[in-house]
Amino acid sequence: MSGPERDRPTGPVSPAPPSSMPWAPSPTKRDGLAAPRLAALREETVSGTWAAPRSAAVVAMPFRAGVDEGWSQQGTDDMGTAEVKGVLETRDVSCWFGSNKVLEKVSLVMRPRQVTALIGPSGCGKSTYLRTLNRMHELVPSARLSGQVLLDGEDIYGQGVRVTETRLRIGMVFQKPNPFPSMTIAQNVLAGLRLAGIKVDNKDALVQECLSRAGLWNEARFRLNQSGAALSGGQQQRLCIARALAVRPEVLLMDEPCSALDPISTGVIEETIAELSQEITIVIVTHNMQQAQRVSHRCALFLVDGEGRPGHIVEQGPTEQVFGDPQDQRTADYVGGRFG
Ligand SMILES: Nc1ncnc2c1ncn2[C@@H]1O[C@H](COP(=O)(O)OP(=O)(O)O)[C@@H](O)[C@H]1O
Ligand SMILES: [Mg+2]
Repeated sequence: MSGPERDRPTGPVSPAPPSSMPWAPSPTKRDGLAAPRLAALREETVSGTWAAPRSAAVVAMPFRAGVDEGWSQQGTDDMGTAEVKGVLETRDVSCWFGSNKVLEKVSLVMRPRQVTALIGPSGCGKSTYLRTLNRMHELVPSARLSGQVLLDGEDIYGQGVRVTETRLRIGMVFQKPNPFPSMTIAQNVLAGLRLAGIKVDNKDALVQECLSRAGLWNEARFRLNQSGAALSGGQQQRLCIARALAVRPEVLLMDEPCSALDPISTGVIEETIAELSQEITIVIVTHNMQQAQRVSHRCALFLVDGEGRPGHIVEQGPTEQVFGDPQDQRTADYVGGRFG
């Protein structure tokens, strides 16, 4: 951004209802739900009154770890034919808390149908960066940012862009699972829609679809009317993913979604991420280097150069390259476990 730094409004804290995106029925199979049935469910639910107009023909891609240049920044595929939604890009994003600058000129493109992992030691600004991507940074009093965050080429901080709309298109899952304890499992799935005042024709089908996509249907199908709080930690996190998916986000942001989970739950969530990445843009913060290698197509390493200095991206690229052939010595040291 060439203009002066923009002070961001610090409005009242409100829950960030997620949102979603146009996707075509994909042949994904989860939880034993046969692919045609799932496809039919999606047809059903996307044709509901709440569904946004969908012009994009999105074709499901196979999950290809390490794939890099599948999509251009213009939001078309390699052939330039299909419109692709969910290209998230930041240009020179810097962040402050008061006078403390914590991020310096972060530029990154996060592509549809890929998982982008943000890695780096604690305190280097990964969560802060993630929160700029759906305008949660501005919820902190004294928080400021400069630079641009573009979703499909449009600045989400632009004049006239509604923050609620943005948070519907760019959903978020947090470190600690946070289902609404007073709501049932089914109500939790639908909570974001309710908050956004979006009507749904066939709630049961949507609940099933979202729980299936989140890999929770088999475990939750006979207890939909039980409290979300009755689920295990890993199940609660998948419930939060289902809740985020219900509003059909184009992008899903995840801040260390497995750090409070056991290895088996972590594996299930990773499988869910792999499935979802065939349809939407996923950005995940992780401290776990193995996890970054398992789930992501691209990685960006954040570091600070010294005490009190702002975090910045040292290296970004295809995950295989960042881990297997790092271009920067600091990356080699970090992914090699020599610090952090
Ligand atoms: N709400 C806040 N108010 C003031 N400073 C903050 C706030 N949140 C984070 N910070 C500071 O911003 C820097 C980056 O933090 P964070 O984005 O949480 O890093 P990471 O996620 O990489 O651990 C740290 O120095 C942290 O102390
Ligand atoms: Mg963090």
